[in-house]
Amino acid sequence: MQILAISGSLRAASSNTTLLRAAARLAPDGVDVVLYDGLGSLPHFSPDLDRVLDDPALPSSVRDLRTRVGAADALVISSPEYAHGIPGSLKNALDWLVGGSEIPGMPVALINASPRSVHAQASLAETLRTMSADLVPGSPFTVALSGRGLDEDGMVADAEVQATVEAVFSALEHALDGRQDTT
Ligand code: FNR
Repeated sequence: MQILAISGSLRAASSNTTLLRAAARLAPDGVDVVLYDGLGSLPHFSPDLDRVLDDPALPSSVRDLRTRVGAADALVISSPEYAHGIPGSLKNALDWLVGGSEIPGMPVALINASPRSVHAQASLAETLRTMSADLVPGSPFTVALSGRGLDEDGMVADAEVQATVEAVFSALEHALDGRQDTT
């Protein structure tokens, strides 16, 4: 299983990005997690710039995003909330994916590292459902990290993080198994 992990935070010391790095280390055998690192390089979405994947006029950072999403079996998104909403850079990335064929039917798990951030999660879920993603049951998988000051090693060693990450991988595997059963 190839998983593309997307953090909604561009902050260097982001707890969401660190959590995804920890999740990659906790992934079971046969599950490969790659962290998407291009969120901050995407141009602002405009339908005027949007093209099919093989059109040379499509911005290369957008082609890279779509190619990475298309090559993945599933997505994991861990995002902070800004002003009761989705961070603009993450919504921008999702807007670039609306016109493509990569997201429809793709299993997506949401992780929420801050239980009080309910608005962004609800909004993310609504956007992804509108894009016909297969939001896996249990999303958002919530783990309370705020104020705990855990670094990557601390997260890898933390029982709550381990349980959350295990639940995420299990839900994604279940979604992918379900797909194979119907083909
Ligand atoms: C926030 N934060 C925040 N938290 C929340 O629960 N509701 C909110 O509306 C906001 N709004 C908000 C606006 C701005 C501009 C910032 C910078 C922060 C807090 C934020 O979600 C929290 O600190 C996250 O843990 C940050 O995630 P990273 O960057 O550590 O991954």
